[in-house]
Amino acid sequence: MSIHNSIHKGKAITVTIDGKTCQSTFGKTILEIARENDIYVPTMCYLTKVQPIGACRMCVVEVEGVDGMILSCQEKATDGAVITTNNAEVYQERQNIMKLYNVNHPLECGVCDKSGECDLQNKTMEFGLEQQAFTARDQHRPVENWGHVSYDPALCIMCEKCVRVSTEITGDEALKVKFGGYGSTIINTKQEKNYASLGEAAAVCPVGALVSTDFKYTSNAWELTKIPSACPHCGGGCQMTYEVKNERIYRVTNTYEFTSLCGAGRYGFEYANENVTKDKVAFDKAVAAVKEAQTVIFSSQTSNEEALILQKIKEKSGLKLVSHEARAYQKFMQAYSSVTGQSLYSGSLKALSESRAVIVMGTRINDDSPTVKYHINMASKWHRARVAYMHPLEDTEIQNIVTQFIKYEAGSEEGAAALLADTLLKEVELPKAVRSFLDDLDIGNLSAESNIGEEELEALRKSLIKKSGFSLVVGSDLYAHPRAEHIAKLLALLEVYADFNVICVPPAGNAMGISLICDLDDAVEGKTVGYNAPADFTLSALGDGDLDMPAMNQQEGTLTTIDKRVVPMNAALPYGGYVLNDIANCLDLNASYTIEYTKELPKEKGFEAVEFDSLPDYFDTVGNEHRGYLLKSQKVSVKRDFDEVEEIEGFDGAVVYNCNPTEQFSPFTAKSKLLKDEAVLLGSQQFATVTKLQDGENITYTIDGVKFDRVFKIDTSMKGTIALNPTFDMGLSGALLSSYRFSRLDFERAGK
Ligand code: SF4
Ligand code: SF4
Ligand code: FES
Repeated sequence: MSIHNSIHKGKAITVTIDGKTCQSTFGKTILEIARENDIYVPTMCYLTKVQPIGACRMCVVEVEGVDGMILSCQEKATDGAVITTNNAEVYQERQNIMKLYNVNHPLECGVCDKSGECDLQNKTMEFGLEQQAFTARDQHRPVENWGHVSYDPALCIMCEKCVRVSTEITGDEALKVKFGGYGSTIINTKQEKNYASLGEAAAVCPVGALVSTDFKYTSNAWELTKIPSACPHCGGGCQMTYEVKNERIYRVTNTYEFTSLCGAGRYGFEYANENVTKDKVAFDKAVAAVKEAQTVIFSSQTSNEEALILQKIKEKSGLKLVSHEARAYQKFMQAYSSVTGQSLYSGSLKALSESRAVIVMGTRINDDSPTVKYHINMASKWHRARVAYMHPLEDTEIQNIVTQFIKYEAGSEEGAAALLADTLLKEVELPKAVRSFLDDLDIGNLSAESNIGEEELEALRKSLIKKSGFSLVVGSDLYAHPRAEHIAKLLALLEVYADFNVICVPPAGNAMGISLICDLDDAVEGKTVGYNAPADFTLSALGDGDLDMPAMNQQEGTLTTIDKRVVPMNAALPYGGYVLNDIANCLDLNASYTIEYTKELPKEKGFEAVEFDSLPDYFDTVGNEHRGYLLKSQKVSVKRDFDEVEEIEGFDGAVVYNCNPTEQFSPFTAKSKLLKDEAVLLGSQQFATVTKLQDGENITYTIDGVKFDRVFKIDTSMKGTIALNPTFDMGLSGALLSSYRFSRLDFERAGK
């Protein structure tokens, strides 16, 4: 994706490619226009989602009136240009390039993992090269194991795609080129981290140089059945394809030309509830339990259709529906909408990646939503976007793109939001009531309480002057904050009056879909049934409850993504047991399959009356997304009333912050063999000093009634007195966590 800052950008142009008249817009490259018009130009190093690399020269074309051949991936088309993409000279040039590629690249494809889906293999055939024309002296370069992926320098064609995704997309900047003529190679500068996002690099590698260590030599690519789906782990709903054989998922791939997957999406697929059969006795008990229950409590690992089934059960029986994360998000968004007048936030990931300035508040974004982090990184790399990161904890993983870290005290988010709104709306014309509310804020006091210096805010304001394309990313620290609704209203002002593209990152799985579909309650009452949450009677996809349920990769249904898109999720694996719909059918609901509810999702919330089987699920040749449909934002009544900012509850001493390590989200990622991670309470040396805890010490503590039994570990890269408390290993009880993410640590020692 190139950056086009030209003032002519968008101007209509006409070019002729191979005799075909093509209409397009100024700013696009010849290759982009050729692809828009289904004209084939071979490439080796081109990857649509990054800036043109220009390393292979395969894309050469001729332009009338221009001497020599030019790189179509880099050259922008001019109005009236007459282009030839193929003739004898161009073919010869490309064939010579292929001959050079094949120097030293062994063509013993039968033993290579990439065989059958290798660009070099395909183009070697395309250009009629039956043998290696030249050879160079072999250099011994052993295969390197980088954890999730392994690298074979002997197969590497130095196209640099892997380096570009590591820099421009995932942003970990782990991969670099080590220059050295024929000895040039790719190096992994951060091997100790075992970044799961290196999977992205392996996905784009056109040859067998970077491959998944786990998948290697397990199956031929062509033997696998491809099942398109959506990732259910966080609210991203990223596009993914399960590759399956003999009822086993071998790997997850993606439409890598246009989309990306984090490590959880790519490697967190082994969580199916396997070998389940229909247990009629347990099923009858489940039906009886739902009939008797006063509350159903459920996690965010619930599809839109299942959420609708639960809502319909509620409407019939009057029971309460409790889903903590989704409820907090629902209330936050309702308050947010009362200021914007729209049911949905304005932002999208694409707009985020095109931003020139991004403010992130109330989320440890690298861990909470990798896809959002990637899009912030794109804005940083492509548009040199300023990135202000507002949080009580610094995060070394995104330091490379943060231009201003604004630290605030845990608990002071309301004050921080008020200060932010005041700062960014200083010179904006506002309705009287809003202006006088902001003017009446006691800035000195808010600044002291939150610990945000007025000079920091001024620096932020100044850095945004003369910029356009602002994004604000807010996250789940705010949703369960005691003053969440007021925080939502304050931040919504930035969408309405400062033209911010705002994304309120869904706190988990399908929380956004659930929050739109269900009429949720705040508290549990009486007898309970849990759906992926512990209760008096538990329906569990982990296989540890009273009745088994299918995991997300065993279900058909839809998810609602952070991009406000309703996307189809297909079952990768069969399931032999009962599903929620079977229980519903015993409670006067009537549907043969869960997906019969897809067309019934609530129109008044922006869903469409579309059958599941009619939902599209593809990207076209130029990368336009045709997955499901976009929700329609609904008008809601506006009520811009603001309260005083409340006195902040103190969080002195040792504090824990509920946050999972990168690429862990739930018991389902925790169950996935390839993502195995240790759950420890991670704090700084300073935290250890304040708590008098030693590295390796065992402690217990309770949050929201959930007991944690943890080893404390010191992380020398951390600062301050807030420790990271993972929840992904807590099984279904993670769904019981309902309060603000920060809490004071009150622990007991359990000895070493
Ligand atoms: S490892 Fe693969 S993607 Fe990276 S430079 Fe080599 S061939 Fe290209
Ligand atoms: S976990 Fe989230 S960011 Fe990662 S692939 Fe899945 S949906 Fe995308
Ligand atoms: S595709 Fe243009 S140089 Fe490689």
